[in-house]
Amino acid sequence: MTLRDERRFLSVTPIVFARWSVNPSCLTGGVAIEIRDLAECPEAAADIAVWHWPEWEPGSPDGTIDGLRDMLASWTNRHGVPCIFVAFRDDAPVGSVALVAHDMEAPEPRYAGLTPWLSGLFVIPDARRRGAGSALVAVCQRRAASLGHAGLYLYTQTAEGFYQRLAWETVAEADYEGEAVTVMRRSLESS
Ligand SMILES: CC(C)(COP(=O)(O)OP(=O)(O)OC[C@H]1O[C@@H](n2cnc3c(N)ncnc32)[C@H](O)[C@@H]1OP(=O)(O)O)[C@@H](O)C(=O)NCCC(=O)NCCS
Repeated sequence: MTLRDERRFLSVTPIVFARWSVNPSCLTGGVAIEIRDLAECPEAAADIAVWHWPEWEPGSPDGTIDGLRDMLASWTNRHGVPCIFVAFRDDAPVGSVALVAHDMEAPEPRYAGLTPWLSGLFVIPDARRRGAGSALVAVCQRRAASLGHAGLYLYTQTAEGFYQRLAWETVAEADYEGEAVTVMRRSLESS
């Protein structure tokens, strides 16, 4: 099947599909979501920066949204971290997630040895509750497993229940940068 044939197949098939690794799974609403490496669609970095800016502005290296976009645009490793996966619906980006070496900087030395981390999961409101978020998490898990890691980590303020449904386990409750957060781990043995 050529790439064009594959895209046509995807466009009429109600599945979540990541071309390189994830098994298709059914979607509600009959909408196809395809997940790509940011390396394949670098222009999506601008969308991701817009999504992240209100929430994660401090992540910009120079305090500007352009700086945030340029930093994200460089996260294109195919065989390591950092890398970003982008969910597309009808060829438009609707969500993303990053796999990074570490997501908690000092002063959290307790977690310094843990790697890698899932970071910045986001799906636009219009595309939520159709499996895109779960599919992005699954792709991130697969990539981490393929890199030889036995576990994947994240921290969250608000989405512990979402990750618990995806077999993530709570490692600790922590105070991070003045906020109460939950640190979680996903075993990758079965990913
Ligand atoms: C969390 C998020 C990525 C989920 O994306 P999604 O595409 O809707 O995810 P899925 O379709 O795979 O799963 C949706 C299910 O997760 C549940 N869910 C979503 N956010 C949740 C949360 N914060 N806590 C518990 N459950 C949650 C939904 O209620 C839904 O379950 P339901 O259909 O039984 O009601 C999306 O809501 C989002 O981008 N939120 C804002 C950013 C954010 O909170 N990111 C996580 C930071 S750690």
